[in-house]
Amino acid sequence: MKERILRALRENSEGYVSGAALCEEFGVSRQAVWKNITALKENGYGIESVTNKGYRLVSVPDRLYGFDILSRLPKDCLCRKVEYFERLDSTNTKAKQLAELGEEEGTLVVAESQTAGKGRRGRGWDSESGVGIWMTLLLRPSLPPAKVSGITLLSALALTKALREICDVRAEIKWPNDVIVDKKKICGILTEMSSEENYIHYAVVGIGINVNTTRFPKEIEEIAGSVLGQTGIRVNRCDLLANTVKYFCRYYEQFNREQDLSSFIEDYNAVLANLGREVKVYYGMVENAAEEQTDTGIARGIDSEGALLVEIDGQIRRILSGEVSVRGLYGYV
Ligand code: BTN
Repeated sequence: MKERILRALRENSEGYVSGAALCEEFGVSRQAVWKNITALKENGYGIESVTNKGYRLVSVPDRLYGFDILSRLPKDCLCRKVEYFERLDSTNTKAKQLAELGEEEGTLVVAESQTAGKGRRGRGWDSESGVGIWMTLLLRPSLPPAKVSGITLLSALALTKALREICDVRAEIKWPNDVIVDKKKICGILTEMSSEENYIHYAVVGIGINVNTTRFPKEIEEIAGSVLGQTGIRVNRCDLLANTVKYFCRYYEQFNREQDLSSFIEDYNAVLANLGREVKVYYGMVENAAEEQTDTGIARGIDSEGALLVEIDGQIRRILSGEVSVRGLYGYV
């Protein structure tokens, strides 16, 4: 009910919504509407009530409440359920537990803070309370396991689209899925899955966005940034979260149908930070080798499988994510 009331109030942000209209729309008593309005006020929502006019939403708290997220999503969005926590070890861990218990596709796990946030390659992820978005979406894709990296690429693309729409910030992607604003990484994505040879039981897409973060640990200070730090714009976290999920779900459903990324190549390449730039490809340490094998070339964009096409000595080589890492010659991007 709180979700529906917020949606109705937001749709009428200019004027007032009468209590009677809400009762009629939801088929409930005045008492029930009043109870939910009171509950929303207790959650920190500023709702003005004026006799003979009704209710008006005047302010929202800086929280990622599930009902608020849902009230901002399209009614036909794949995400129809949010599990909200003040504190969790990791939203990815929680989403995997829920998946094992049979939770359905589209459930979103959100936490205000994480005590053991997970990054890629076994690293941690700094997840301070109240300044970022730490969320994981549970999916049950009908894709072969080898294609799951496409989901990660699309999450990054969804965030760039949301940032452009909400605050006109032009974010870029460092292939495959770090989102960059003004040369600093503001988002990391960790997709994990449970699969058999040719079948995905489930995948969880964990997205960490530094929104209003102002301090970073020394070790990552050079690379990490936040939307606020890079642009001076203080974005409403709930708005950014919902918009990212909205675009992601749209892209994901299309990818699931089409089974490749052909439809997204143009949009992805348009925000690809590496495009046309020199990149160094690191193939990882091979046993007994004295040093890591690397190649240098020019990034030419992605293909329909999400591989990065790198021109090396006049030849195009397909670089698959997960196998290698790519860095710019003169710094992180
Ligand atoms: C990276 O190393 O770039 C990936 C970082 C992914 C962090 C997010 S925060 C929400 C979700 N829960 C986790 O434990 N990790 C991901």
